[in-house]
Amino acid sequence: MYQTIDFLKQAYTQIKSSIRWQTKLDEFDILLLGVFITIILHFILNRLRLPRREYNQSYWSFIKSQVFLGLINYCPGVSSFLEKKKEEALKSLSHSFEKHTVNKTYKIPENGMGYDKINERLKNWIDRDSKNYNSGKVSGSLYVQNDEKFIEECQEFTKNFIYSNPMHADLWPASRQLEAEVIKMTGELFGQEKDSIGMLTTGGTESILLAILAYRNWAENEKGITSPNIVIPETAHAAFYRAAEYFKIQVRAAKINQKTFTVDLKDLKSHIDSNTICIVGSIPNFPYGTQDPIEELATIAKKKKIGFHVDACLGGFIVAFAKEKGMNYGKFDFTLDGVTSISCDQHKHGLAPKGVSTILFKTRQLRQYAFFSTATWSGGAYAVPTTQGSKSGIGAAGAWFTMLAIGRKKYTELSKSIINATIQLAKQINEIPELEVCGQPNINCVCFKSKTNINVYSIHQILTEKGWNINTTQNPPGIHISVTHQNIPNLKLFVQDIKQAIQEIKANPSKYKKGGEMGALYGTTQKIPDSKFAGNALKLYLDSVLKL
Ligand SMILES: *Cc1c(COP(=O)(O)O)cnc(C)c1O
Ligand SMILES: *[C@@H]1O[C@H](CO)[C@@H](O)[C@H](O)[C@H]1NC(C)=O
Ligand SMILES: *[C@@H]1O[C@H](CO)[C@@H](O)[C@H](O)[C@H]1NC(C)=O
Ligand SMILES: *[C@@H]1O[C@H](CO)[C@@H](O)[C@H](O)[C@H]1NC(C)=O
Repeated sequence: MYQTIDFLKQAYTQIKSSIRWQTKLDEFDILLLGVFITIILHFILNRLRLPRREYNQSYWSFIKSQVFLGLINYCPGVSSFLEKKKEEALKSLSHSFEKHTVNKTYKIPENGMGYDKINERLKNWIDRDSKNYNSGKVSGSLYVQNDEKFIEECQEFTKNFIYSNPMHADLWPASRQLEAEVIKMTGELFGQEKDSIGMLTTGGTESILLAILAYRNWAENEKGITSPNIVIPETAHAAFYRAAEYFKIQVRAAKINQKTFTVDLKDLKSHIDSNTICIVGSIPNFPYGTQDPIEELATIAKKKKIGFHVDACLGGFIVAFAKEKGMNYGKFDFTLDGVTSISCDQHKHGLAPKGVSTILFKTRQLRQYAFFSTATWSGGAYAVPTTQGSKSGIGAAGAWFTMLAIGRKKYTELSKSIINATIQLAKQINEIPELEVCGQPNINCVCFKSKTNINVYSIHQILTEKGWNINTTQNPPGIHISVTHQNIPNLKLFVQDIKQAIQEIKANPSKYKKGGEMGALYGTTQKIPDSKFAGNALKLYLDSVLKL
């Protein structure tokens, strides 16, 4: 993804220098001129459609971003320069994948190949890739416990379902039952004692999309809301921003308390109005691993008569079992009146193979707002619960096998060890004088920031060189690690490596001032006046991922 930085940097410099050259004015004059040109041209070229200010965007930043876009579009030479640079960035991005792309296949072979021949290639690939994901130095990504026998049995069981299609519930009654049972068992964990009302999805993102879709349809039908908004902690997962983009809903991001790193309730409340369809809280959120005040949020939602989604994608299976061990996370499920939906991922700490999550709803009526059905299609009556049409029964089978094979007792033990490791890790990092853990993470992720002038992205750079594959956060700059059964044995080493990194930085302060590639990426994206421009540049990365 780093090549997008170069592209962004060059784009930014070129745009700045090209206006300087053409106007020989200082920045403020350029700005005024830019405003003028932008307004006139927008008016003419967009047939009097003026751009809209984003929610809570200051007039200043709105003007800056419009000037920036105006200059890109109307300054001679800038857009063709950008196109050229984009092509270069794409080439360079593709190059970084190229070295791992071997024996390319461009066409279906004329004659089918034998199993052994095909498998020969697979073996090379698996051996190579497993060195990455099995290194024990990776944040999140692979959640399953280290248990070869379990993994083999799960593969053996799920292979029976690779051709099944639970959309045809009449033909595959077993797949249908597994799916219904996974929903039931998951709902039971979250306070749905009688019926569990939910659906099985392909992952946390789909669960969240469907929840937001349900709230939008509910609010439109029952409250007549046609310009809906959602009020979410700014730390809520990217999937909420995505749902808003897909379904044309306004996002109102509430601030985070810089001490607890959980949502600031006062700020959150100030964004709620008569067009708000739901609020959101996470247990925990991805960036900091902290838990939003779920009980208070439920009270707010109930009082305002709006939806409240609890995102338990990441921590659901941990906190639901920790409850049994007397760990106190407060109430976070349907036993709280204001909670109207919960997402929880089997494929994270549910320890199931990838491709399965659950979205639970408080009422059947709310769930129906996420379903799709048509009685008039020429292909016949058609009704599906999620975003998929035909679908695989593998997700349900993998989750079902895993839940039955592990059982409550083992889930509880495993959760306990994740929680313990997380709390220990946070404690050890807080003991490093240069660093501070963000808030009080006590579920399964830890994020820390710098307390001194040490650039935390430089620590990330050195950790990456030491083979760690972890995440960075922004606002404030930090380093995040999701604790899994894979990396627990190496967390001691992780802390040692952090300490070593700090020593290296202190020994070479000038080399490590800027924070390496991540520092450059965030530095540049924050300088670019239009956030969508920077976001769009990241799409180049996806082009390269999908390129052979
Ligand atoms: C992972 C995650 C999601 C999204 O789940 P995917 O399975 O990656 O789509 C949502 N919320 C949180 C807090 C997460 O960590
Ligand atoms: C490419 O394919 C050939 C023939 O199947 C095989 O011998 C070789 O090992 C493969 N190379 C890699 C790097 O996988
Ligand atoms: C908790 O973690 C510490 C340090 O990693 C370890 O020594 C201890 O055995 C763990 N305790 C439990 C109950 O897992
Ligand atoms: C976090 O890091 C992992 C491992 O490098 C990476 O695969 C993943 O995309 C990162 N996630 C985010 C949200 O940055």
